[in-house]
Amino acid sequence: MRCSFRIVKITVLSCLMILTSLFFIADSFAETCTTSDCHADISQMVNNHSPVAEGDCSSCHEQVQEQHPLEKGSSFQLVETGSKLCYQCHDKFGRKLTVHSPVAEGGCLDCHNPHGSNAGRYLLPVDHNLTELCTQCHDSELFTNKVVHGPAASGACTQCHNPHEANQPKLLNKKPQELCTGCHVEFAEGMANSPVVHAAVKESSCTACHNPHSAPAAKLLQKDIESLCMDCHGDVGRMAQKAKVKHAALYRPEKCSACHAAHFSQYPALLSMPEQDVCLSCHGQDDYSKSKPLNNIAKEIEGKALLHGPLQDGNCSACHNPHGSDHTRLLKGAYPKGFYQPYTKGSYDFCLECHDKNLLRFAETTIYTDFRNGKQNLHFLHVSDKYKGRSCRACHEPHAADLKKLMSEKGTKFGDWRIPTRFIKTETGGSCSPGCHQTYEYDRDTPVDYQK
Ligand code: HEC
Ligand code: HEC
Ligand code: HEC
Ligand code: HEC
Ligand code: HEC
Ligand code: HEC
Ligand code: HEC
Ligand code: HEC
Ligand code: HEC
Ligand code: HEC
Ligand code: HEC
Ligand code: HEC
Ligand code: HEC
Repeated sequence: MRCSFRIVKITVLSCLMILTSLFFIADSFAETCTTSDCHADISQMVNNHSPVAEGDCSSCHEQVQEQHPLEKGSSFQLVETGSKLCYQCHDKFGRKLTVHSPVAEGGCLDCHNPHGSNAGRYLLPVDHNLTELCTQCHDSELFTNKVVHGPAASGACTQCHNPHEANQPKLLNKKPQELCTGCHVEFAEGMANSPVVHAAVKESSCTACHNPHSAPAAKLLQKDIESLCMDCHGDVGRMAQKAKVKHAALYRPEKCSACHAAHFSQYPALLSMPEQDVCLSCHGQDDYSKSKPLNNIAKEIEGKALLHGPLQDGNCSACHNPHGSDHTRLLKGAYPKGFYQPYTKGSYDFCLECHDKNLLRFAETTIYTDFRNGKQNLHFLHVSDKYKGRSCRACHEPHAADLKKLMSEKGTKFGDWRIPTRFIKTETGGSCSPGCHQTYEYDRDTPVDYQK
């Protein structure tokens, strides 16, 4: 049995009282204090504080008036004030980077009942769900936004926060990112094993985008996904906004995540799939759009003998800007619409970015194109007409073809009609029997005489 003698400081108290207090010993104190009539509620809580369970009332209380109970005032006082009372037995807080305000101010009793708890462990007035306790002082709005995080909803605050002190800001138990990946282990794995990790995830904390407790947007996002991404990617945002041709894909509910992963990816540019698969997830269907859908590109390229250069690597963005563009069909450069086009310098810059820039320049050439009759440049003849030039689409497919040189089989639209090229390639030239004119042949070595 433990005995604790306590000498009361001599202040205004009488000697008699000092003597009396000297004779207090723990067990008798408890016996006399917690009879069925007196303070039974204190010693018979579901979980009593160890010293209370042991009947050691005097480790905290000392008698200062002989008479007890008193009608007015108190015959006992606490042996210490504030946290000093507790630090008699418990280690002091205050050595770590951040100390919780009430702890620093000695307010242990703001949260703990010194005698015990009827609700659960740790001398707390609540069981596992701490929300009620914490929101005595903290704004409950933190936890009541539209979408609430599982652990916050269940009041498991101490999974993330130390209630007393911590070496991390905001009383966090661990470094912000480790805190999250401690439960979301697949993110730690994903980040370690993916060739592409979003710099925003790698370099800042998860809370750059997510709220830890509750948030106004799905997936605990701080704001709608579009503004979230554009906060940091203003260039993409401004570009998309200013673009004359906007990509409807950006304005669907998924926004940026129609194509991008947010955290990490196996593919360049954080795409959620290989680029072509991303594009064909919509453009490989007949009915992906509420307005009239465009050509089904999957059908356009499937089983074709020849894929247009970049398409051989599944690279759609070599030609299209996925975020928006000033040019028709989101192309990365100038490419006029329609069948007939008055030719001006630069109007086919899109194609000539990759193909010979002199293709359309000279009426006669022996090097810049194979589409010639002797020296006569037939590209120049067809396209470079200041009044009624023909567009490349009159003869070529943009994506894929069974005919050589991407020549268009079905042909392009001419009003209600499609004009087929009926192109036949030979060793030194070829022939076309389009709807435009009679069958013409061309030959680079032995030019055909069209005057005959
Ligand atoms: C760990 C310290 C500690 C121990 C041990 C302790 N008390 Fe207390 N007790 C306090 C504190 C602190 C208060 C003041 C609580 C407040 O102001 O809210 C208090 C208040 C009281 C009060 C008045 C308010 C109330 O809750 O009814 C009584 C009566 C009391 N204690 C009885 C006892 C008895 C009897 C024992 C032993 C069985 C005991 N205490 C053991 C710390 C302790
Ligand atoms: C006389 C010594 C003593 C004093 C004074 C004391 N405690 Fe304790 N406290 C203990 C002991 C002993 C335990 C049991 C430790 C264990 O189980 O490892 C304990 C346990 C606790 C626990 C854990 C309870 C649980 O359910 O696991 C809390 C919380 C606690 N004390 C808070 C306080 C607070 C707050 C004060 C000041 C108001 C205080 N203690 C003052 C001795 C003391
Ligand atoms: C803001 C509320 C709050 C305040 C203020 C507070 N505590 Fe606690 N304390 C808790 C909670 C919550 C737990 C349970 C921790 C857990 O679940 O791991 C706890 C647990 C404890 C424990 C037992 C487990 C441990 O971490 O050792 C002790 C001892 C303790 N507190 C002592 C104190 C003392 C001493 C003070 C004052 C200096 C104090 N507490 C102030 C909320 C508080
Ligand atoms: C008695 C009032 C009170 C209670 C109860 C309380 N807190 Fe606090 N808490 C404060 C005060 C005061 C601050 C400082 C606020 C500030 O600096 O703006 C604070 C700050 C915090 C901070 C931010 C710390 C920082 O470094 O900025 C966290 C996290 C926190 N409390 C968590 C909790 C949790 C979890 C609980 C419940 C276990 C809780 N609080 C219960 C009063 C309280
Ligand atoms: C999943 C982990 C997690 C849980 C669970 C959690 N928090 Fe937090 N809390 C955080 C993080 C992370 C921050 C820091 C946010 C930041 O820096 O923007 C924070 C910040 C805070 C702050 C400071 C707010 C501010 O604006 O400075 C308070 C107060 C707080 N939490 C209280 C609580 C309470 C109360 C609970 C339980 C109801 C709780 N937290 C549950 C992770 C968590
Ligand atoms: C204590 C474990 C735990 C910690 C720590 C934790 N989470 Fe969670 N988180 C969960 C659980 C449980 C769910 C709900 C289960 C699920 O959706 O898979 C969840 C769900 C989420 C969701 C999806 C919410 C939704 O509405 O679909 C996001 C986003 C999230 N957590 C982000 C975070 C971030 C950011 C952190 C760090 C600040 C974090 N989590 C820390 C356990 C945790
Ligand atoms: C750049 C902003 C950003 C950062 C930083 C970020 N996330 Fe996310 N997170 C998102 C977006 C956007 C979504 C929704 C994805 C979607 O709808 O495809 C999301 C979804 C989630 C989900 C729900 C997943 C699901 O499939 O339901 C979890 C869990 C999650 N994030 C955890 C984390 C963790 C853990 C971290 C830190 C390692 C983190 N996030 C960092 C933007 C971010
Ligand atoms: C906190 C700032 C921040 C937020 C929010 C953010 N990012 Fe980023 N993101 C970056 C940084 C920094 C880089 C790397 C530098 C760069 O390429 O601009 C990056 C790079 C990228 C890349 C290029 C990755 C690569 O390896 O090529 C993509 C794609 C991207 N982010 C998409 C998004 C999307 C989608 C969102 C919204 C879910 C988003 N970002 C939100 C900061 C952010
Ligand atoms: C239709 C699919 C798609 C959508 C929707 C989309 N992107 Fe992209 N994004 C791509 C592709 C494909 C690339 C890689 C090719 C490139 O750079 O042009 C890319 C590249 C990026 C890059 C890195 C290169 C650069 O251009 O800076 C960033 C950052 C980016 N996207 C941000 C965003 C943001 C922010 C959104 C939402 C506003 C978004 N993306 C929506 C397909 C898309
Ligand atoms: C989430 C679905 C979706 C994804 C993914 C997507 N698109 Fe689109 N795209 C659309 C819709 C919807 C339209 C508008 C169709 C309409 O007007 O009927 C469109 C239009 C286009 C247009 C024509 C634009 C115009 O107005 O002339 C091109 C070109 C295009 N997309 C290319 C791409 C490329 C390249 C990718 C991959 C980087 C891609 N798309 C990924 C949905 C998508
Ligand atoms: C070598 C350049 C190039 C590549 C690579 C390319 N495209 Fe195109 N695409 C074009 C051109 C040029 C047009 C315009 C055709 C026209 O208007 O005659 C076009 C038109 C489109 C259209 C509109 C179709 C319609 O109905 O008018 C869509 C959708 C499209 N492309 C998607 C894609 C997708 C998806 C990929 C990747 C699988 C891709 N493109 C790769 C050059 C390209
Ligand atoms: C991003 C670069 C790029 C753009 C833009 C581009 N092409 Fe190509 N094109 C290629 C590549 C690469 C090849 C394959 C070259 C090879 O196999 O020698 C190719 C092949 C061709 C061929 C077949 C040549 C052959 O020898 O089989 C034709 C015809 C063609 N492109 C026409 C066009 C037209 C018309 C445009 C504009 C609407 C255009 N290209 C835009 C890159 C591009
Ligand atoms: C009147 C039909 C026609 C038009 C219009 C046309 N081409 Fe061609 N093009 C051909 C034929 C036929 C060939 C095949 C030449 C050969 O190899 O015999 C060809 C070949 C090509 C080649 C392969 C390299 C070469 O020059 O032999 C490229 C690149 C090309 N065309 C680009 C274009 C571009 C860009 C446009 C629009 C500015 C265009 N073509 C317009 C019929 C046309």
